[in-house]
Amino acid sequence: MLIKQVEKLKLRKEAELLVLPFLEAEKKAKKALWASFEPEFLDLAPIKNGDFFGQTDESFLIYPEKEDTLEKRLLLWGLGTEKKLTLESVRHSAAALVKKCRSLKVKKINLLFPSRIKNLKKKELFSALLDGLYLANYAFSQLKQETLEEVPPLLEEIALIGLSAKEADLIKKKALIAEGVYLARDLVMGNADDVTPQKLAEVAQSFQKLSSKIEVEVLDKKKLEKARLSLLLAVNRASALDPALIIIHYKGSKEKKLTALVGKGLTYDTGGLCLKPASSMDTMKCDMAGAAAVLGAIRTAALLNLKVNLVGVIPATENAIGSKSYKPGDVYPSHLGKTVEVENTDAEGRLILADALSYAIERFQPDHLIDLATLTGAISIALGEEIAGFFTNDAKLVKKFKTASKNTGEHLWHMPLFNEYLKNLNSEIADLKNTGDRKGGSIAGALFLNEFVSGRSWVHLDIGGSAYYSKPKGYYPVVATGYGVRLLIELFENGL
Ligand code: BES
Ligand code: MN
Ligand code: ZN
Repeated sequence: MLIKQVEKLKLRKEAELLVLPFLEAEKKAKKALWASFEPEFLDLAPIKNGDFFGQTDESFLIYPEKEDTLEKRLLLWGLGTEKKLTLESVRHSAAALVKKCRSLKVKKINLLFPSRIKNLKKKELFSALLDGLYLANYAFSQLKQETLEEVPPLLEEIALIGLSAKEADLIKKKALIAEGVYLARDLVMGNADDVTPQKLAEVAQSFQKLSSKIEVEVLDKKKLEKARLSLLLAVNRASALDPALIIIHYKGSKEKKLTALVGKGLTYDTGGLCLKPASSMDTMKCDMAGAAAVLGAIRTAALLNLKVNLVGVIPATENAIGSKSYKPGDVYPSHLGKTVEVENTDAEGRLILADALSYAIERFQPDHLIDLATLTGAISIALGEEIAGFFTNDAKLVKKFKTASKNTGEHLWHMPLFNEYLKNLNSEIADLKNTGDRKGGSIAGALFLNEFVSGRSWVHLDIGGSAYYSKPKGYYPVVATGYGVRLLIELFENGL
């Protein structure tokens, strides 16, 4: 979708629809206030007659009497009361607008920028509006064979009226960020049979063509054996597909500082011999969402030329079931050296991440590590599906992540690395086992990972709920959200 900036109402071109934003005026519901431009629009019949109030999610379609207008239709678009306006409410209103346009099968619109709003700075409002428009205007229809009528078309062009030329830069930047989110969503939505470890590696390799600052290497099974990533190899054993460790270098700064992004790339999680019931297996193509977020974020960072050095490390494999399966009760060595008793083959994410984290530390000595993983189902029991669990051993990073979360609307909650629970991971026969108590399951997962980061500054984001919703909502038009891409970009921009 192309978003253009137009300075004045008079300078706009023809389109299918003119969208007028309105605020809901308290009590005087009749007098919805339009935030900018010509007063003539306030005389519109639905407003005068009290059929349209300007509430969030409210819209009203009008066919103007005059035939000579640049647009055949007008849409009154509600933003809610001025007092309650937030970045998040603007994103949601923008998403409602996109949904409305799609249901009208309108592809080209003129949209008046709502310029006079008290609580939000113009830049914030603009930024949230762009987020909402871009994030909502997405569909995953690769696997459908339907007539056009059944799939509402996407918006193709928006002229944002009331913005100066210098504001075009933010439009471009937000478009690149959205592309990163779309990539993550596409990969998560795609068939597990298509989005294999090898496919993830190909996607990473394709970035080398986009930026000379990106270099990719892929460790195949042989190299993984040589480097002794034995936990990753154990999880992979029953799969017909080889595992891969995908390493993506992005050098955007001359400084030494390096951040490692580690993404869980479990392309399908059957649970292994501790097989999942059918009802919890059918969403498990989503188990590479951490990897997808890392790919989306690095691609975007490179295209935005961000002044950061990143190394993405993606352990990728299926957790399949078969005669070669790794076994509950057996002990496997890790790359770090610690031995792990596998109590449950379905707690496989922490195994492949343990190897990836310790490998990343040994090879690259990053200043910070950030892992993103659909690690536990328990995180959505604790926080619901819209909030990611945020764990860290580095108190200095808490505020930075909270700020980035607030600015982007990618919600997170600071969870405890409560060391008392570590004893639940004690094993009789190995250095530790991979599961503890069912209670506090997300904390157990995080504590397990903490055993493999050797005290280095580290953040773990458990996106077991937030990466893949149970149904589309708000500015998430499909169940794969692309969680993490925007959060990471915001962090890099603000400086880690
Ligand atoms: N990939 C799952 C976690 C998950 C579940 C993500 C539901 C998204 C939605 C993970 O590998 C897993 O199976 N975790 C187990 C851990 C348990 C065996 C300790 C879980 O959450 O049940
Ligand atoms: Mn699992
Ligand atoms: Zn898993």
